[in-house]
Amino acid sequence: MGAGASVHQAVKKGKSVYTDIHCHVIWGVDDGAETEEETRQMLRAAAEDGISTLIATPHVTPGVYRFPEDVFQEHYAAAEDYIRQEGLGITMHQGAEILYTDITPRLLQEGKVRTLAGSRYALIEFSPTDSWDHISGALQKVFRAGFIPVIAHMERYPAVKGLDQVRELKRKYQALVQINARTLTRKIPLLRRRFFDGLFTGELVDFIATDTHAMPGRETCMREGMTAIGKKYGEETARRLAARPEIILDNGGR
Ligand SMILES: [Fe+2]
Repeated sequence: MGAGASVHQAVKKGKSVYTDIHCHVIWGVDDGAETEEETRQMLRAAAEDGISTLIATPHVTPGVYRFPEDVFQEHYAAAEDYIRQEGLGITMHQGAEILYTDITPRLLQEGKVRTLAGSRYALIEFSPTDSWDHISGALQKVFRAGFIPVIAHMERYPAVKGLDQVRELKRKYQALVQINARTLTRKIPLLRRRFFDGLFTGELVDFIATDTHAMPGRETCMREGMTAIGKKYGEETARRLAARPEIILDNGGR
């Protein structure tokens, strides 16, 4: 039984067990955790927040910044040791949050940029000022390179503002949509509210993730976000979103 199946069963039994596909929990590699103690604190908080599986997704910018791979591997191993020692019950996987650059599709194909947990799913980030043409073109190239793009915190990109646009990205490039849990715990600006409601009621959202960076400040809030979704869009929607990361874990899971 894979990790995905166990999450699914727990969710079906009504237990709040979550998979976080986007977080910056490994210290010293990006603007996430800064110290080993901060990583430990974030892992304890994740366990308390009901997270049983997480994918560590440090920022990478292919061809622009060199990613400190050695440091990442060393700190990742230390974090895994800590999870075991403390019995936190978290299964951790490696991933990356990829700020799209022209070289990204090629490096993905060459295995030089990490996907989510070794799967075909790649977490792709854009700048909030990127145009629709840039975003759409980038997702097309990632898809054509043989990967399924997961749009990181899609709510941050004003260029993607219509439900038809989201449907188009899904239809043409199989793009999947990730929204940050924290966004759901805050008041959605009036102008974006209808778009948001349409995303959830139209089942256009695929993943809720924490994108947790640091404590305090941008700490984990998965349960709070999922509770807000349950209240606003129904428990079935919250359950569907909690189980959805299975498609990634079943496809990679390492
Ligand atoms: Fe992030």
